[in-house]
Amino acid sequence: MSDAILSVEDLTIRFGAVTAVDGVSLAVAPSERVALLGHNGAGKSTLFKTVLGFLTPTGGRIDVAGSTPGSDAARRAVSYLPEQVVFPKALTGAEVLTYFARLKGVSPEAALPLLDTVGIAAAAHRAVGTYSKGMRQRLGLAQALIGSPRLLLLDEPTSGLDPVSRREFYEVLEASARAGTAVLLSSHSLSEIENRIDRIAIMARGALRAEGSLAELSRRAGLPIRIRVEAAAGRADAVHARLGGERVNGRSVVLTCRADEKVGALGRLADLGADVVDVDIALPDLDDVYRHYSAATDEGAAR
Ligand SMILES: Nc1ncnc2c1ncn2[C@@H]1O[C@H](COP(=O)(O)OP(=O)(O)OP(=O)(O)O)[C@@H](O)[C@H]1O
Ligand SMILES: [Mg+2]
Repeated sequence: MSDAILSVEDLTIRFGAVTAVDGVSLAVAPSERVALLGHNGAGKSTLFKTVLGFLTPTGGRIDVAGSTPGSDAARRAVSYLPEQVVFPKALTGAEVLTYFARLKGVSPEAALPLLDTVGIAAAAHRAVGTYSKGMRQRLGLAQALIGSPRLLLLDEPTSGLDPVSRREFYEVLEASARAGTAVLLSSHSLSEIENRIDRIAIMARGALRAEGSLAELSRRAGLPIRIRVEAAAGRADAVHARLGGERVNGRSVVLTCRADEKVGALGRLADLGADVVDVDIALPDLDDVYRHYSAATDEGAAR
């Protein structure tokens, strides 16, 4: 992707005998929101730290806004929300934001409205030590948004947020992406990012296992669809004999099939007429899709 703001090519990072990132290639374009998923120890945070220039790659290349990670130009382009955000407890939210604005060479007046953007303006003059975890995360996001970065790196930004806070968080991200910011965030939940992210990259044991839109990944995973058929009284055996599948709790038969077999299966159901009372179709759960790609081997994921 030539217009990518972040371009990672064949990146490998080793810590002694541990290969934390193993030949990963990934690009993020302006206005694009990409989620990086993967089990504990998959290599997500290591990848972020390398993009920031905190770690030196063992192999491969990273380009941030046309520059090397850690260079002045790259540092100006990138904002980061670390996995565990810690602010001085005695400072107020407004003071924290003022401090980070000055570090980034942005006027505090331009940065302070971000407290309103992330919904903590009412607590602007309270000490951060009195903030709830969600409020601290919101302050962290406000800090990351200072100066409208070209690339936002967010390491598990929604961990510990309640569902409403999550939705609001993704709304803020969407607005920044619309304004041109490229977003790369890590998360542990595929269902959380549904409809809120443009592309997903799944890492397992350092390697990139899958990449694409959620719909593409879901299709490629080829996970089975479950069709639950409720039979008329006394007809479950007859339905089972005709359809196969599995008998459950007296009146139902459960069929599993691939997506491309669904219409055929429904056709056979229709032929059973009044023997069938109800039908329920369950598509693969999004977290099932995530588990499919991120599954660590029996040796266990490095933790
Ligand atoms: N400084 C380090 N020294 C040695 N090993 C490290 C170091 N940093 C990370 N690792 C190892 O690299 C691997 C990847 O770790 P990383 O923190 O990138 O995982 P992660 O995907 O962010 O996991 P989590 O979901 O738990 O945050 C792990 O095996 C970890 O133990
Ligand atoms: Mg991590």
